[in-house]
Amino acid sequence: MSTDRQGEIIRALSPVEVKRKLYLESYGCQMNFSDSEIVASILADEGFGPTSDPAQADLILLNTCSIREKAEQTIRKRLIQFRWIKKKKSGLMIGILGCMAERLKSQWLEQEKIVDLVVGPDAYRDLPDLINSVEDGRSAINVILSKEETYADINPVRLGGNAITAFVTIMRGCDNMCTFCVVPFTRGRERSRDPHSIVHECQELWKQGYKEVTLLGQNVDSYLWYGGGMKKDFSKASSIQQATAISFAGLLDLVACTLPEMRIRFSTSNPYDMSEKVLKVIARHSNICKYIHLPVQSGSTRILKKMNRRHTREQYMELIDKVRQLIPNCAISYDMIAGFCGETQENHLQTLSLMEYVRYDFGYMFAYSVRPGTPAERQLVDDVPESEKKRRLQEIVSLQQRHSYERMQGHIGKTQEVLIEGVSKKNSEYWYGRNSQNAVVVFPKESYKMGDLVKVYMDRCTSATLIGKAVSI
Ligand code: SAH
Ligand code: F3S
Repeated sequence: MSTDRQGEIIRALSPVEVKRKLYLESYGCQMNFSDSEIVASILADEGFGPTSDPAQADLILLNTCSIREKAEQTIRKRLIQFRWIKKKKSGLMIGILGCMAERLKSQWLEQEKIVDLVVGPDAYRDLPDLINSVEDGRSAINVILSKEETYADINPVRLGGNAITAFVTIMRGCDNMCTFCVVPFTRGRERSRDPHSIVHECQELWKQGYKEVTLLGQNVDSYLWYGGGMKKDFSKASSIQQATAISFAGLLDLVACTLPEMRIRFSTSNPYDMSEKVLKVIARHSNICKYIHLPVQSGSTRILKKMNRRHTREQYMELIDKVRQLIPNCAISYDMIAGFCGETQENHLQTLSLMEYVRYDFGYMFAYSVRPGTPAERQLVDDVPESEKKRRLQEIVSLQQRHSYERMQGHIGKTQEVLIEGVSKKNSEYWYGRNSQNAVVVFPKESYKMGDLVKVYMDRCTSATLIGKAVSI
């Protein structure tokens, strides 16, 4: 977590007797931030209290990300800074968690002498024992990926800070094997969490005053609970287990019905796995936000095939049409990769034309970066020059900026519900929140307070923010 989130741990964790200090920093996806909350919970039981100052820590943990080369470089640089602290403080333990731990395994202990502890995403329960091993002078590594682990029974310590919105993990791993992606190797096979534990966690959050949950997974639409175990073993489950299995549509419906006033979001959806049933559930419940993050990666069927995305450009467009038809006011965002192996200028133009077709509300765009061990690294040639990747990426970014601005303008003149999440960074007299479509909204504070769901008239906008005024009802 970034340093400003770190401060929040101090408030979140206090009652246990603090014997040692933990400094925890997270990188990458929302799942990593959510995992850090599980790690903080496991270590709080061991008497580890948080600190926002690495120099004060007895244990420094970096929850790492491998998704692109740049993410890994950032973490290596950070480690160099910790080397100085370790030189001054004997007994300080440094641990690598998350995807880089899983990807590089014992290489950490061999190459980076300051690393004492290497723990993969499915092995966090083993942290207390591993810490004991380090203290006994032994090396400590556990990067075993699990068939079952979902941390369902662990009550995460909330590190996010605003006490209004929270992440709830519903499934782990990914079976999709997109050729560019390292996630199936670092996070293992898909397994879903018991729906009762998910609903229970959401209920507890509501009791504590939280007003919004984001159901998290690498591929939430693939959620399938049939009593535990990997999704790929579903066909081996008993006929009763198969008949009573719960899909993502069922889970979403269950959470929305159980907590009718809780706002619900989810992330991330793979278009291949997203069903019409899910769209109907979103349309039916007013408390499920009208926003879908639907990564496409490319607008060219030829490139999608090389990426093993399992849908064509046309099938994706049909899905978009379905979303528009069933949920007319739904915002859509995406991930896009520029310059994947073999991508021609024509393929790139197809990406731009797909964007014109969808006119996305938001987007997350990346230049392709080869990940060691992935099918793309082994079987395809990274043949688009870096300068060309950057040029294409820039065109995608510029087009998206135009579309974002257009979409934001579409909200103007409307009155929409906004959940207050904090104070605007630019003006302390304004609240900051999001509408159902996930657009950021700021408006004068008046007598409203954190966590209020306020009707706001949208007056004007930039490409990233709506500026409005609360209307009394
Ligand atoms: N389903 C996941 C996707 C994780 S990766 C989720 O929960 O978000 C997030 C995004 O990173 C992908 O959608 C893809 O656009 C991008 N990405 C993944 N591997 C990449 C690579 N090797 N190079 C560039 N971008 C990549
Ligand atoms: Fe990665 Fe594709 Fe899964 S992008 S996380 S392999 S859906």
